[in-house]
Amino acid sequence: MSEKIEEIKSEALKQLEGIDNARDLESWRVHYLGKKSPLTQILRNLATLPIEERKAVGAAANRAKVLLEDSAGQKGQALREAQLAAQATEETADISLPGRSYPVGHRHPITQTLDEICQIFVSMGFQVVEGPDVEWDYYNFEALNIPAEHPARDTMSTSWVDTGKGERQQLLHTHTTAVTARTLESLEPPIRAVEPGKVYRYEASDATHVPMFHQIDGIAVDKGITMADLKGTLYEFSRRFFGEERKVRFRCDYFPFVEPGVEMAIECLACRGGGCRLCGNSGWIEILGAGMTHPQVLERAGIDPQVYGSFAFGIGIDRLPMLRYGIDDVRLFYSNDLRFLRQF
Ligand code: DAH
Repeated sequence: MSEKIEEIKSEALKQLEGIDNARDLESWRVHYLGKKSPLTQILRNLATLPIEERKAVGAAANRAKVLLEDSAGQKGQALREAQLAAQATEETADISLPGRSYPVGHRHPITQTLDEICQIFVSMGFQVVEGPDVEWDYYNFEALNIPAEHPARDTMSTSWVDTGKGERQQLLHTHTTAVTARTLESLEPPIRAVEPGKVYRYEASDATHVPMFHQIDGIAVDKGITMADLKGTLYEFSRRFFGEERKVRFRCDYFPFVEPGVEMAIECLACRGGGCRLCGNSGWIEILGAGMTHPQVLERAGIDPQVYGSFAFGIGIDRLPMLRYGIDDVRLFYSNDLRFLRQF
């Protein structure tokens, strides 16, 4: 019996040597170590052997089994390593392949315009301040000399926040001048600040109106500030933004929070003052409202108008890139059509 075990063992090892793939190894394992394998049979039939032989045969069969199992394990390991090595030489990375490029976005034309204007004012010593879009009636109206029932409220159709109680206390700010009211309250003079932001009007859309658009307000408070400072600052802004040659015009206008109030227009970009469709034949295009901050507005914010002078201005943003690029419909800025936006 011991000879038979030796025979099985050497035959199995010889077969194993010739194996070069996992599938054959598995068949080998079934054949020599499986339930029906000769070694298993021998171990199973030990009881039929005479008692003196049992011990020796059992031990020999077990030793053979362990040896075959170990050898199979080593073979398996060797096969896996060989396969990995082959894979590594077959699969090469082509490092000369160009990488995948991802599309790079850019800032929206309105954002570009706001950034450019902020930069101009920052270079003149202004700081950039932001305020909340959801605002109290107080900062949007009351603090700016526009009490309830004031006719100026009708010029800015308001989107009120529904509190569920029918009261009108909070709104989406209708102009960035609301941020100016906050700035006056929170900063100590001397103040030079610009406040860019989105503003909201309860209006239907058309080529020149959208319910959400952009403004940038500005405020300067210091001792001895006069209208000359206002004009000098806004002239400089116009030179930097529209160019040295562009003519600028100031005319009287009314805003409850300034006295006197003005509007500033620039010579039409299309006809250079000759009159065309873009400027409604006037030769001028209105760019901003401005004025000397009303003493009551300063007082309400705790600033003594006897001591401090102040000017303020508010620029409508959306029209500027329209004029610069000849865009005739403001809604294009808000339609998110990439074919349009990619041009800037
Ligand atoms: N808030 C005004 C508007 O939306 C614009 C404006 C006018 C702002 C005069 C100012 C200003 O700060 O002084 O029409």
